[in-house]
Amino acid sequence: MAVLTKRIQHAVAWRSRRTMANMRDFNNGFRAYLNSRSAQKAQVDPRITYPCYKSFDEYIDVEKLKSLDGYLKKKVVSYLKTGQCQEFHTGFQKLKLMSPTKPGSKLIPLAVSKRPYEYLDLDKPDLWEPSECANDFADLMDFIATLPFKTTARIIIMADDQGRAVSAHRDHTLTNVKHEFIWFRTNLEKPFSLQDIKSKKKVGVKSYSAWFDTVNQFHGSDSTGKLAISIRVDGIFSDEFRAQIPIPECNPASTAALWACLSS
Ligand SMILES: [Fe+2]
Repeated sequence: MAVLTKRIQHAVAWRSRRTMANMRDFNNGFRAYLNSRSAQKAQVDPRITYPCYKSFDEYIDVEKLKSLDGYLKKKVVSYLKTGQCQEFHTGFQKLKLMSPTKPGSKLIPLAVSKRPYEYLDLDKPDLWEPSECANDFADLMDFIATLPFKTTARIIIMADDQGRAVSAHRDHTLTNVKHEFIWFRTNLEKPFSLQDIKSKKKVGVKSYSAWFDTVNQFHGSDSTGKLAISIRVDGIFSDEFRAQIPIPECNPASTAALWACLSS
């Protein structure tokens, strides 16, 4: 009887902790939603039209990337099966108030921060080191070493074995923060897209890799019901690579968008 009582108490405590966390999430989301509705759209370079993304396929070895598909799927599925993977959180800058902040995708970190996680540490390579999982993904890490970075920082695999939709969101609202990253995938199965804040016009990403503005437009993914995997590597682009990137008149967070618009 005592064991049963303890189990019930444990279950009740767990449920109330979860309810509190959900309420906290809703409150934060509601506040962010109200702020975004009342805020003026940030000023951007007039040469930019949203939604947009800059394909990086011409700068990376796409054939090598595609060849990693089977290997990566197998590895990722075995990690997801452990049930130990961290849940992906969209943050609170969502397009729709009621869309989930935890849509079901999981994260497999290949580089982790040496101090408690801070989103704005993404572009501080000195703070990041390979995770325990990195050895298990050696072929992927070898591919990442060929990308046009001087140094890398956060490296994550984002995966969902049920291919659920990822709520359209912005990563943050700091227009003076430019994060240099490459988003990529080994197949074109994940229907990833960018969406304009005002018109809600959507554009699907057709390339294997991209750099996109995560601040002045939304990004997310539709559901497929099938395994969906993408990888994001943050860091500092090499000097040679940086030299070809145009600089916007304002709003450094829109740099990828300007490059995308000037390239198309
Ligand atoms: Fe995001």
